[in-house]
Amino acid sequence: MKKLRTQVGIVGAGPAGLMLSHLLHLEGIESIVIEAQGRSHVEGRVRAGVLEQGTVDLMRRTGLGDRLDRESLLHNGVYLSFEGNRHHLDFRELTGKGITVYAQHEVIKDLVRARLDAGGQILFDTTELAISGVESSPLIRFHRDGEEYEVRCDFIGGCDGFHGVCRPSIPEGVLRVFERTYPFAWLGILAEAAPSSEELIYTYTDRGFALFSMRSPTVTRLYLQCSPNEDIRNWPDDRIWKELFLAGDAAHIVPPTGAKGMNLAIADVTVLSRAISDFYRSSREDLLAAYSSTCLRRLWKVQRFSWWMTAMLHRWDSQNEFDHRRQLAELDYLTSSRAAMTSLAENYVGLPLE
Ligand code: FAD
Ligand code: DHB
Repeated sequence: MKKLRTQVGIVGAGPAGLMLSHLLHLEGIESIVIEAQGRSHVEGRVRAGVLEQGTVDLMRRTGLGDRLDRESLLHNGVYLSFEGNRHHLDFRELTGKGITVYAQHEVIKDLVRARLDAGGQILFDTTELAISGVESSPLIRFHRDGEEYEVRCDFIGGCDGFHGVCRPSIPEGVLRVFERTYPFAWLGILAEAAPSSEELIYTYTDRGFALFSMRSPTVTRLYLQCSPNEDIRNWPDDRIWKELFLAGDAAHIVPPTGAKGMNLAIADVTVLSRAISDFYRSSREDLLAAYSSTCLRRLWKVQRFSWWMTAMLHRWDSQNEFDHRRQLAELDYLTSSRAAMTSLAENYVGLPLE
């Protein structure tokens, strides 16, 4: 058995795990990241695309801004489209901030490179990971290349996503779950096609939600509302192109409509890395003790915003004519009232961290 020792053992090399490791390194704190998938898998996984200003500022401040500044697309707002009309929401004018389009897997590539260049350890391709001693002496065990590993640490960062092993390892009575299940899903399409609009378009149509987004000047990203048990075989290319012609994410997940999951992950680890470094610097545990409540206050506002965007822009099975008219009235209000627009813009570009 290989026995390793580090200050913080981090499970998962997603945005949360890698950024936590990076921020801790900058504070002089050692960590090891343990990931189930291979490097190419995590660096190629197509997921989020929209970065809040706070996420971009953090990347620049911590030495991750070079490629981001060269390759990202800066947007001043988004369009909302319903009943055949497109309305522009100018976030820059409303809040002084814009949003940045840069794929999540590019953020991952930048983080992996930065960690490896700094001599950091990311152990990819691991299996059978189990954690123990979370309340006494934390220990992470796993297998890699046919060998058994054991990592002893002071803290475990559980950054292994919604379906990982860390969430269920929180002792009973400590974890409280608040849950809402949405009755629809998104079909995501990545197309080698130049974007036909300069900014994102969130659309509410008779047949449901559609989102037009992009990754670069030559790559378009689209999402269409579908059933949660939709079979991809029902979507041959012909049907996708026909639809396109008409229209365009361990602690918490939010429906993707508000573009918040990855940004929340980055916000969480910003607060956590400060708390851990404060502990090592001054043996103070108050920031660690306050970690959940600090993050939850903002998280619930983001949860509310994501729920509201989702409810407003999707067709619900239970929806009657009253609901439909109410949704259209909400969209009409939103696109004609500066107060309403400013509220959407303030949430979309990112609420302050604390
Ligand atoms: P993850 O990215 O899920 O990373 C967890 C890591 O842990 C993974 O690498 C996984 O392989 C690893 N792991 C899991 N189990 C184990 C185990 N047992 N042992 C070791 N490793 C393990 N967010 C936005 O902010 N903006 C957007 O525009 C946006 N759009 C999205 C669009 C889509 C279609 C989807 C699906 C998501 C979107 N999100 C968006 C959400 C965003 O992708 C997630 O919120 C984000 O990935 C969360 O990061 P994380 O690090 O917490 O978890
Ligand atoms: C993208 C994803 C989202 O969930 C969203 O709200 C906006 C953009 C994207 O992948 O580009």
